[in-house]
Amino acid sequence: MSRVIAIDGPSGAGKSSVSRRVGQHLGFLHVDSGALYRIMTWQCLQNGIDTSDPEAVAAFAQTVEVECEPRDGAIIYRVQGQEPGDAIRTPEINRHASPVATVKAVRDRITDWLRGMTRFGDLIVEGRDITTAVFPESPARFYLVASAEARAERRRKEEVEKGIANQSAEEVKRSLLARDAIDSTRQHAPLRKADGALEIDSTYLTLDQVVQTVLDALPAAWKEGNA
Ligand code: DC
Repeated sequence: MSRVIAIDGPSGAGKSSVSRRVGQHLGFLHVDSGALYRIMTWQCLQNGIDTSDPEAVAAFAQTVEVECEPRDGAIIYRVQGQEPGDAIRTPEINRHASPVATVKAVRDRITDWLRGMTRFGDLIVEGRDITTAVFPESPARFYLVASAEARAERRRKEEVEKGIANQSAEEVKRSLLARDAIDSTRQHAPLRKADGALEIDSTYLTLDQVVQTVLDALPAAWKEGNA
């Protein structure tokens, strides 16, 4: 049986950096579930699907195929042989992803894909509903939070580093809060802290400190590299 570490939290709480580092440390594959919601959204837009029409999105979602494989410590995704890269990291995708993620048929399909990834080995999976809906049985579940200001600042820094920053800090914060609101109030698998998940507020912690907090909280046998 594969072991799964589950990490949820709002945008910019540091889930990706923490998951990558913990995954590298333990030899668990990093799974970015948000990228699958972004791919679904990207495919909708490429095919002229109205993302505000849940029925159209639900029907289209059944036709999307994503190929997954492990590479360099993470699961990578391809659509028709092509890796989406930064095409799924644009402000337009940011805007349309939350409504697409409210559609139950989209969530069900992505949940199936994520559960199927245990065939590749031990995983560290980050998202919004991993601790509550996708892998609620995991003994290693975390809820990562940070202040809205800290999260917006991190997102903007990432965009500047990638050379795709075209929004002010205030715009980044507004878009992030708008997405949080949709993600936490939707009917199906909303973002919330699962009972039994360990909450970590990373506002005033360094990346190393958050990584250490996660490692310290894992079941003892996992830390020793035993199954
Ligand atoms: O983490 P992210 O910003 O890449 O996520 C993109 C969108 O997908 C965001 O609106 C939240 C949604 N999402 C979700 O509903 N469930 C997940 N497990 C992961 C992401």
